[in-house]
Amino acid sequence: MNVIRVRGPVRLAGTTYVSGSKNAVLPIMAASILAPGTHYIENVPFLVDVVNMAQILHDLGIDTYWVDSKPVEIEEAGRLGPHVIRRTQRHPAWSGYPDWRTPGDGMIEINVGDIVSDTASYEAVSRMRASISVLGPLVARVGHARVSMPGGCVIGPRPVDLHLKGLRTLGAKVELQGGFIEASAAGLQGDRIYLGGPRGSTVLGTATVMSTACLAEGVTVIEHAAQEPEVVELATFLRNAGARISGDGTHRIIVEGVSSLHSAHHRVIPDRIEAGTLACAAVATGGEILIENARFDHLFALWDRLQSAGAFIDEVGGATMVRGQKRPQATDVSTFPYPGFPTDLQAQMAGVLVRAEGTSVITDRVFPERFWYAPEMTRLGARIRVEIPSATVQGTDRLWGAEVAARDLRGAAALVIAALSAEGETVIRDGGHLYRGYEDLPSQLKFLGADISVEGVSGDVEDSL
Ligand code: UD1
Repeated sequence: MNVIRVRGPVRLAGTTYVSGSKNAVLPIMAASILAPGTHYIENVPFLVDVVNMAQILHDLGIDTYWVDSKPVEIEEAGRLGPHVIRRTQRHPAWSGYPDWRTPGDGMIEINVGDIVSDTASYEAVSRMRASISVLGPLVARVGHARVSMPGGCVIGPRPVDLHLKGLRTLGAKVELQGGFIEASAAGLQGDRIYLGGPRGSTVLGTATVMSTACLAEGVTVIEHAAQEPEVVELATFLRNAGARISGDGTHRIIVEGVSSLHSAHHRVIPDRIEAGTLACAAVATGGEILIENARFDHLFALWDRLQSAGAFIDEVGGATMVRGQKRPQATDVSTFPYPGFPTDLQAQMAGVLVRAEGTSVITDRVFPERFWYAPEMTRLGARIRVEIPSATVQGTDRLWGAEVAARDLRGAAALVIAALSAEGETVIRDGGHLYRGYEDLPSQLKFLGADISVEGVSGDVEDSL
């Protein structure tokens, strides 16, 4: 059935947490290709996309396991009282999730040995566009790669020209053949690369060049690099694996090539988009929540816009406090690369502003076509007019429940947010999109007081694609 039901209106209240960052862990998993050995990554979210990436790595000959090392009490005959041992459980991540998973507490082990294939299939790339992240590491490690060309998707065209430009500058030969990107290199050579595009910096393009350059000869300088915290995370993982990288978090990243990398241990940052989604849900419902482990400093652009919408935001003893007014105020929002307002929170912000007093303009120049949720929201009574790259939102004090359909991850979250303040029941079809980027948003919202249920939707891969 794949349906999420929300009954509103509700005012969210209570304390919640966020899991590890999806967009940090996916490029880290891909970059592990570069470094033979056994890697341990902590705070990995139980997400469909993590399983998707584990499947791609499995096809290349790299096995990823969910691991859980828990103290267990054992009773033994002849022994006085129980004694405690640590028992490690392992579950193949490419086949899904283990029964023993505890949300917010995932850890993976990636075993990197010989690479047995150089191909990411059409099926893999169409399922998850972040699959492109294996291209550069494969070329750097084995000298050749075949990755299916990403086509268009519901948030608009997602070109990879900057990834290819970066690889060519490092000395790879790159051709487009039969729907595949075919790249090869006899040896990679560091160089200066300007990576800015028509819409600013590229996050995964920066990841591609930064990780490939680790095994190139000499120095690579990436100008107009993406500054996202997830790029810093990847750089930190690579440094732990022996890479020489500096400048991450700024517009200029410098990579000094090394001859090989080794295994690493890394703990992933909390997901800023999940934290932002929960904050938007609180403000949309005039609620008050405390988000326990969010990185407050990763979301200044969102805090600024939510404050402008009348919300009270504060950092309290390491946690983030978000309190909304009965009704938000209208405010304008424009997306930018980090540290600007994230395109990944644009739809959720619309979920807030549909109930605002006054008219707001939301502009997304990063992904200008990311407004498919607008016609669905109008079914709830929202008044939104889209003229790409903007949507004009005329706030209304009354939304009502209706049947709607989700088409992508963040749009699905936006529909849930709008539904929380709509009167009556909203039925969101294809709600499984949510599980590509949130471990269990419905349960988190339920804990905060929402009347929400799921049917046929779970974290299981088959149900969620
Ligand atoms: C990543 C995130 C995604 C987020 C996006 C922007 C992951 C797994 N995904 O996607 O959630 O929405 O950053 O913050 O981390 N572009 C080009 N040529 C290229 C590459 C990109 O023109 O070769 C354009 C894109 O069309 C877009 C802009 O650059 O307009 C930014 O895209 P980019 O930062 O590359 O997005 P992703 O890294 O794919």
